[in-house]
Amino acid sequence: MRDADQKKLDEILNKYNGAEGFLIQLLLDLQSEFNWIPREAVSELSERLKIPCSQIFRIASFYKAMSLNPIGKHKISVCMGTACQVRGAQKILDLTESKLKVKQGETTPDMNFTLKRVNCLGCCAIGPVIVVDDDYHGRVASEKVDKILRQYD
Ligand code: FES
Repeated sequence: MRDADQKKLDEILNKYNGAEGFLIQLLLDLQSEFNWIPREAVSELSERLKIPCSQIFRIASFYKAMSLNPIGKHKISVCMGTACQVRGAQKILDLTESKLKVKQGETTPDMNFTLKRVNCLGCCAIGPVIVVDDDYHGRVASEKVDKILRQYD
């Protein structure tokens, strides 16, 4: 863990002064600060609060608002619903994976993007569709992918 991250982690842990009753709030704060809950944070939390790591992982896995895997600054969803697939979504997904050098479900090493394939986004008429954060990009052609990604670099 980088020094800056360790400092942020310490600040969050100190805020609750080792009180076990604040575990969920503490995990939410970690999620909010790092955009995920790093394993090092879970270990430190476990040590300080004397709670087994397995219990912390169980809680963090239960809540949808928490992630135990790194999530990039920008979330890209490529629609793989039937209507988008018919219009070439697989090619768009392959191209996006190749440009970002990650597979769907993964995060780029610079933590800028997390790529996911999703089912119908409810706007089939403009397929194939890519959503970056809350921005919908419709009728995405292969040559548009690079331009879309560069907007979020
Ligand atoms: S199938 Fe892609 S938006 Fe519906």
